[in-house]
Amino acid sequence: MTTPAVVRTSVELRELDQSISFVPTMGALHDGHVQLMKHARPLGETLVASIFVNPTQFAPGEDFEDYPRTFDADLERCAEAGVDVVFAPAVQTMYPEGTEGSITVDPGPLGTILEGKSRPTHFRGVLTVVSKLFGLVRPDVAVFGEKDYQQLALIKQMNDALCLGIDVQGCPTVREADGLAMSSRNVYLTAEQRAQAPALHAALRAGAAASARGADAVLDAAHAVIDSAPGIELDYLELTSADLGAPAPGDARLLIAARVGKPRLLDNIHLTLPSLAINEGN
Ligand code: PAF
Repeated sequence: MTTPAVVRTSVELRELDQSISFVPTMGALHDGHVQLMKHARPLGETLVASIFVNPTQFAPGEDFEDYPRTFDADLERCAEAGVDVVFAPAVQTMYPEGTEGSITVDPGPLGTILEGKSRPTHFRGVLTVVSKLFGLVRPDVAVFGEKDYQQLALIKQMNDALCLGIDVQGCPTVREADGLAMSSRNVYLTAEQRAQAPALHAALRAGAAASARGADAVLDAAHAVIDSAPGIELDYLELTSADLGAPAPGDARLLIAARVGKPRLLDNIHLTLPSLAINEGN
C-alpha cells in the first residue's frame, strides 16, 4: 500500500501526463467513497481524488464549519483504494476571485426541484466547484455516487451542455448492514437517531416492492413506512423518471430527504413502473 502524493496547487497537477480517473470528494471518507475509488482505479493510469470542503455549496446557517474534517484518516483510505494523487487545495486556490466570484455555473431547471427547492443555492456551488476541479485535474473519467442522485444527473447534464468531454460515471450507493446509506453526515447522528435513520431506506424498499401496482401504490407504501417512523421529519418523498422528470413506465427513481434530528439525510432507489398501471393502482 503506497501513500498517495498530496498536491495542493494547479501547477503540480499539470505535471500529470497520463490518462486520469478522478473521484471528487469533500473528505470524511467512508466505504462509499472507497467503492468510488475502486471503481475509478482501472479507468485511468493515474487515479486522482480531491478532498475539498466547498464553501459555496453550503448556505449560511448550514454545516460548513462543522463538516467533519479527517484528513489523516482520509489519506489512509485513499492509499487503501489505490489513489495515486490526492488534490487538497486551499479555498484561495479554488476561488482566487473570492467565494462571491462573478462566474458561476447555473444549474438550470433541474437544479430547482427536489434538493434545489430546499437548498436553492446548493447546486450552483456544486457545479461551479466541479467544473473548476474538472478544469484543474483534467480527468478522462470522473466517478460520483448515486446516493446524491440529483447531483450526479446535474453533473452529467453540465458535462454535456458545456461540452466538457469527460466520461462521467455513477456508482451504486453503499449501505450499512441495516440499509442506511453511507454518508459523511451520519457521524452527526446520536445513537437514538442512528437507530431511527434506516427508516428512509425501509420506506424506499417498501415503495419499490409495490412498483408492479403503479405510481400511487409506490408512494402510498413508502409513505406508510415513513409517516409511522419515529424521529423522521420528511422534507420530500418523490417518484420520478430515471432522469428526474415525471414518472413514466419503465425505469423510475424514488427519492427521499428527511431530517433525523439535526442531520438532513438523502436516499433514493431504482424501480421499474409497469406500462399500463401508472396512477391506476392496479
Ligand atoms: O458529493 C460531494 O462530496 C460534493 O458535492 C462534491 C461533488 C465533491 C463537490 O464538492
